[in-house]
Order: sequence, then C-alpha cells, then structure tokens
Amino acid sequence: MAERPVLVFDSGIGGLTVLREARVRMPDRRFVYVADDAGFPYGDWEEEALKQRIVALFGRLIAEHRPDIAVIACNTASTLVLTELRAAYPDTPFVGTVPAIKPAAERTRSGLVSVLATPGTVKREYTRGLIQSFAAQCHVRLVGSQNLARMAEAHIRGEAIDDVALRAETAPCFVEEAGKRTDIVVLACTHYPFLANVFRRLAPWPVDWLDPAEAIARRAVSLLKSKPVTEPHHGLDTAIFTSGNPDFQTRRLMHGFGLSVS
Ligand code: DGL
Repeated sequence: MAERPVLVFDSGIGGLTVLREARVRMPDRRFVYVADDAGFPYGDWEEEALKQRIVALFGRLIAEHRPDIAVIACNTASTLVLTELRAAYPDTPFVGTVPAIKPAAERTRSGLVSVLATPGTVKREYTRGLIQSFAAQCHVRLVGSQNLARMAEAHIRGEAIDDVALRAETAPCFVEEAGKRTDIVVLACTHYPFLANVFRRLAPWPVDWLDPAEAIARRAVSLLKSKPVTEPHHGLDTAIFTSGNPDFQTRRLMHGFGLSVS
C-alpha cells in the first residue's frame, strides 16, 4: 500500500513556499499539494463562510488522501479555522502557519516590527492575541494588503509586476519613530516570500523579511516522528486545484516544482 502523504494546503500557489522547505526536510515523503484556487483569494472572505468552506473541503480531502499530516500553508486560513479543523478531524494532525510575531519580537532591536499579511489575517482575533501574548513590549504595525497575493501569483507565473504598485503595498511597513526604524517585516502570507527579492530591492532601508516556512517544516517533521517512512517515495508528487482547471502557466509552474496536476 502507498505511503500516506503529507498534505500541504493553501488558497493558491503561495503554499509552495512551505512545500519546498518541507521537501528539503522530508525528502522521502510523498506530498499532495492542494490549492483552493476556486476560493482564491481568501483575504476578503467573510469569516463564517470561509470557515465552513475549508472544514467541508477537508472532509473530502482527508477521505480521499488519508494524509499522515495536513500542513495548512496559509495564514489567512490557519488564523481562522485551525481549531475547527482539529475538532472536526481529530485523527489528522494539523500544522498551521500563523504570523511569526513571537520570533520577530525576540529578534527586533528597534522594537518596531511590521506584519505584512492579507486583510483577513490582520483583522483576526488570533493575530491580535499573538501580539498581546508575545510582542506587548514592541510596536507592531499590522499591514493588510489587498493586492499582494495576486501580485505574487502573477510574478511567480512570469508576468511583469509594477514596482510603483508593489511599493504602495509595502510602504506602510516602514515606520520611523523617535530616531528608530522598523527592522523586521513578518511575511505573514505564504505567497509573499516569492516576492522577497523585489521587496528587498524596493525597501527604503534594509530590514529582515521573516519567512516562517522553515519553522513550519520543522514542526511537521517533529509531529511525524511517530510515523516513519517505510518505503521512500521517488515519483512525482500531486497537485490538486479545486477549480479543476488551472491555466497553462500554473501547470508549467507545478511541473517545475515536480508536481503533476491531477
Ligand atoms: N497564502 C495565503 C496566506 O498565507 C493567502 C492568500 C490569499 O488567499 O489571499 O495567508
């Protein structure tokens, strides 16, 4: 019988930034990547409707793929629905992706930290709770971007993106106050690391762009310790798009990531 896979889930192709780290740490595992592109972008969804959509979708995904573990490689989903997913599917361990506010608060020297995320993630109770619990001593600016997830998708598919438009999305992250400057920007949407080089080029001053992908992969590895691989996986991994119809550029991208679109 085939090994049970690691399921990596996002609203779109941003979760690939987590998948690539996960593969480095778990080269023998089989992965199933799921993009809920029929619901993309998640950033503007009404919370209750999005919760119901994701819980129902996981019912089907778990029944079909029987994953050893599910990695929710999406901050917008994780900050909303992790508790419900764990309650609904107690036999499946879930690893979430939530804004890396705690490590940012530990590392900042200036005390000025920005969190760049979707509008959904910045308005979540969960995100406010992280700030209260771990960064009360810092000045944390939440920056909700309407357009960056789409821009990241366009960029990774090879389309040109406009520097001016991109700078407008990231500019609010840069705060100067009483002779101090923001020194860490938390990339709290898994799409954004695809734009990290552009962010660096356009930044008014250098900052640390914090990408949590490696930490998420490490967490998945530790949860999988009790489920060792008996037969290493060598073939292609699978990508599933809920639209059932990803475009040509997306299929090519998946191919580049060693994923066959089912
Ligand atoms: N990649 C997702 C995240 O980490 C969100 C993208 C979207 O659907 O707006 O938040």
